Amino acid sequence: MADHFLGNEIEGPESGWPEVCVDPMMLERAVAGLRTEGLAVEPEALPLPVLVALRDDLEAHGADEFSRAGVGREVTHQTRPDIRSDRIVWLDADRPATRWLFAWVEQLRLELNRQLFLGLFDYECHYAWYPQGAFYKVHLDAFRGGGNRVVSTVLYLNQDWAPGDGGELVVYKARPADEPFVSDTVLAVVEPRMGTLAGFLSAEMPHEVLPTNRTRYSVAGWYRLNANGGPMVDPPLLNV
Ligand code: OGA
Ligand code: MN
Repeated sequence: MADHFLGNEIEGPESGWPEVCVDPMMLERAVAGLRTEGLAVEPEALPLPVLVALRDDLEAHGADEFSRAGVGREVTHQTRPDIRSDRIVWLDADRPATRWLFAWVEQLRLELNRQLFLGLFDYECHYAWYPQGAFYKVHLDAFRGGGNRVVSTVLYLNQDWAPGDGGELVVYKARPADEPFVSDTVLAVVEPRMGTLAGFLSAEMPHEVLPTNRTRYSVAGWYRLNANGGPMVDPPLLNV
């Protein structure tokens, strides 16, 4: 997956597609948010035609192409419907919409590295489909110190999301340094509206997805260090 955008191999957007460009104001807010709170939330982060194309691309996958998401890593990996009940398809930059997205996340990667010295190396992401009633209980996306996932991103693809539809992302305050316990102070509640992008520190910010009352689509992704461990490592369980 890393090969898609190492070096200068990114293909430009096809004609008719919006220019791939990370908005400077958005970038400034995101950098400040990650630096101060470990969290940034931006509504309307990407152009609507790209969002619609991604949503259509997600929906073009048959239900049988989605796998039940698991928890744990490598040998301990297991599906745990009591912990998470979304279904996923990993993305490749092999279609116009996903190519556009990978080019955009690459621009963002370079800026985050330049401004925050994060040493982000590559990015992996999957579509997530939460059927009605699905949820994902409180977890971290990486082990502190051990994980190679550094910044998590979630881009939502749900038009006309309304209060009462559920499915909010709840992000809790970062764990205090060297303390095993998880804060239960809510930092943000994010509705999964079309175009909203949430970014947060993978190993620091406990978060959960509340049960959704309607079908909920997103692209969940992780900027990673060039550390050991192959791609597509699923988040560990949060042991508290
Ligand atoms: C995840 C996750 C949050 C969301 O996939 O690890 O926490 O809002 N997703 O979908
Ligand atoms: Mn997560």
